[in-house]
Amino acid sequence: MSDLKKALGEAAGAAFASLGLPAELGRVTASDRPDLADFQVNGALPAAKQAKKNPREIAAAVAERLKGDGRLISAEVAGPGFINLKVSDQALSERAREIAADPRAGAEVLAAPRRVIVDYGGPNVAKPMHVGHLRASIIGESVKRLYRFRGDTVLGDAHFGDWGYQMGLLIGAVCDEHPDLAALVARLNAEAAPLDGPIPEAFERITLADLDRLYPLAAASGKEDPAYRDRARRLTAELQAKRPGAYLLWRRFREVTQVALERDFHALGVDFDLWKGESDVDRLIPGMVEDLRDKGLLVEDQGAQIVRVARQGDKRDLPPLLVVSSEGSAMYGTTDLATILDRKQSFGPDLAIYVVDQRQADHFEVVFRAACLAGYAEEGQLQHIGFGTMNGPDGKPFKTREGGVLKLNDLIEMTRGKARERLHEAGLGEDLPVEEFEAIAAKVAVAALKFADLSNFRGTSYVFDLDRFTSFEGKTGPYLLYQAVRVKSLLRKAEADGALAGPVVVAEPAERDLVLALDAFESALSEAYDRFAPNAVAEHAYRLSQAFSKFYAACPILQAEPQVRAARLTLASATLTQLELALDVLGVSTPERM
Ligand code: ARG
Repeated sequence: MSDLKKALGEAAGAAFASLGLPAELGRVTASDRPDLADFQVNGALPAAKQAKKNPREIAAAVAERLKGDGRLISAEVAGPGFINLKVSDQALSERAREIAADPRAGAEVLAAPRRVIVDYGGPNVAKPMHVGHLRASIIGESVKRLYRFRGDTVLGDAHFGDWGYQMGLLIGAVCDEHPDLAALVARLNAEAAPLDGPIPEAFERITLADLDRLYPLAAASGKEDPAYRDRARRLTAELQAKRPGAYLLWRRFREVTQVALERDFHALGVDFDLWKGESDVDRLIPGMVEDLRDKGLLVEDQGAQIVRVARQGDKRDLPPLLVVSSEGSAMYGTTDLATILDRKQSFGPDLAIYVVDQRQADHFEVVFRAACLAGYAEEGQLQHIGFGTMNGPDGKPFKTREGGVLKLNDLIEMTRGKARERLHEAGLGEDLPVEEFEAIAAKVAVAALKFADLSNFRGTSYVFDLDRFTSFEGKTGPYLLYQAVRVKSLLRKAEADGALAGPVVVAEPAERDLVLALDAFESALSEAYDRFAPNAVAEHAYRLSQAFSKFYAACPILQAEPQVRAARLTLASATLTQLELALDVLGVSTPERM
């Protein structure tokens, strides 16, 4: 089973080939002039250039051969040498039946599935999430779902930032504020307390709110005061050396942060398969450093150990990978390199996709080069997927009104509030029980945030505009949910009336357009997959909803005579299945009603 677009592409390719021209020229795309045609083939233009012939002549020869294709009612040359294709109602009906009978609604499964890691989200202990983390979470979750849906074996990993300099800063700040805890840290060190024992009760006094409050202060002091910074570095090194006092206090930090983060991510429909931290690969670092040295890659530089990765002909200056700092600490890149090793040993990915802020592009380039030099990965197996920022109205990365970085939880609350308002405005969900209304508002909020993000190509920055994101009109998540709910209620009504679904017979223009929209699912998925670009799926979901909306307006369903009604019900339910699959790939779930 293959989509019409691809099947016709193969036929057009064969037509080009029979003229002694490359079959790739037969690529079929959706028509630019849907009023004239369903599909078009543009290959005659480049073919003519190559063969120094008249494009219209080549197009005419290809069109002539395509005329015999039973699925087409016409193949006409247009303009300078385009070929316009119009598909028969019969072929569209058959394709619609296939899609309707397919639980995957026309989406194919990869012929050669791979093992894939998606590294996304990347939250940190104590450091608040910023917009970069929000986008990393939304895009990463979708990439993970997309790859999995197409048949790959995929693991999503949060790569929790829990082993860096910010930990030393926090340990210092907490000890400054609580002399009794400072004394406890010293005592645990002296007693060589076990690292995996229970976290001392006294540390339970430290809450997430404390970390949130202390971290920015400590970070600022570290910037201003070299002595403060040096102490933080020393404490980081102590933590990494697993001195019990620092280590047990750190475990408390990690615990309170992770619980809160997992809850907030879950509210956003982001759930990780693995919640591994930078600290989890610490055990691999000594062996890795040894190995890098044996391979002749490690060099000493001003007391630090580095790997040089710059190459001749580089367009920009790439710094070396800092493996061990002069204090003896593992750095951000060190844990990333060790993580590559860890994943290789535990999972053996064919591909690791890092969905991280574009501003870290150089960091990944350095780490990836080092990994290839050391033989921990092959060229192309590690991919950094960067993205632009979500901006405020001032065009700069979004900040809260108070000028701070936004907290995920506050963002979700704010969006839910707006979603409730919108639902009331639209008179939706009014007579439903409160809990159901709340659950709907939560779904509308997630759909609003995610769709607003994913409908842009990831490289593009966009402006945060909650009013627009939550609107039930226009190209928004709530509009898509509304369409899905509309189909659900139609199908419920049909069931209550005892109206049965039956084989699709396409006749009306709006029915044709809806089937053409359904047919485009597979190509949207494969484009999104190849380009790490969920926006292709977002665009598809929107077009499908629009096509459904036009169909619903133009073609009576429940009032139609039984055979027509049966055919249209099948089309409606195939649309719903496909729309929900597409939304699920975007990480959005739909309510039953509203
Ligand atoms: N924790 C990092 C940050 O906040 C992002 C982690 C991204 N993933 C990675 N493998 N480095 O910047």
